[in-house]
Amino acid sequence: MTQQMPVAWVTGGTGGIGTAICRSLADAGYQVLAGFNNPDKAKTWLETQKADGYENIDLSGVELTSFEACQNGVRDIREKYGPISVLVNCAGITRDGTMKKMTPDQWDVVIDTNLNSVFNTCRSVIEDMLESSYGRIINISSINGRKGQFGQVNYSAAKAGMHGLTMALAQETATKGITVNTISPGYIATDMIMKIPEKVREAIRETIPMKRYGTPEEIGRLVAFLADKDNGFITGANIDINGGQFMG
Ligand code: CAA
Repeated sequence: MTQQMPVAWVTGGTGGIGTAICRSLADAGYQVLAGFNNPDKAKTWLETQKADGYENIDLSGVELTSFEACQNGVRDIREKYGPISVLVNCAGITRDGTMKKMTPDQWDVVIDTNLNSVFNTCRSVIEDMLESSYGRIINISSINGRKGQFGQVNYSAAKAGMHGLTMALAQETATKGITVNTISPGYIATDMIMKIPEKVREAIRETIPMKRYGTPEEIGRLVAFLADKDNGFITGANIDINGGQFMG
């Protein structure tokens, strides 16, 4: 039964936004493979999904900064569930700090995890998508890749770079049944946001016209929309979902 479901791979699937994306795609009838970083957390996370009735969610953790690991991970998914038809690049980290204090390590780890990983995953799935003349790639970027953010030269650069990749790959695949799009969430109520010092966080919230953070479920629904096979005329687009905080 599950072998016949279309397959979706969600990197960062066990995170705040990732979890909502996994559930939304599972609700839409996909066999979902959630990428993860922390095996212990992932095991508990999967138990929760199963307890909540999500039989069609499983784990697939690969080191996204390694091209070889991504190739092997995609091969393993193909062998067990079939080729991936939906890839959601949702894995991401922050290492905030102003330029004058930022270390080369803080720069490198964010570029590797948030941007180089997107090449590794897209390159690993693209041949199967071209072969089947079908695919949906959805890159979860950020409002801060659109407008920049004080204290985030690394993150803003990586997230802006994601959309450059989106637009280029969308052109390469436009006649092949594959769409490639970027979603740029604003501040969403997750653990990542809670790491921002409270005073700074509250000041940011005041700049959101809706005066609230977004919910992970709001992102999940948008991903499911773009993943839908009937929504095939949107490609190379960036969709802002930020409560009006940035209108570009
Ligand atoms: N704009 C202008 N000035 C700012 C500022 C801002 N947004 N934030 C801080 N400053 C000023 C401070 O007032 C301070 O000024 P003075 O030196 O004149 O007093 C100076 O910059 C230094 O600020 P800090 O004391 O905060 O410096 P710090 O080194 O302790 O911290 C920081 C710097 C780590 C960048 C901290 O300000 C911070 O965490 N900012 C939040 C960054 C942020 O928004 N990250 C988003 C994470 S969530 C995410 O990324 C998800 C997503 O996609 C949306």
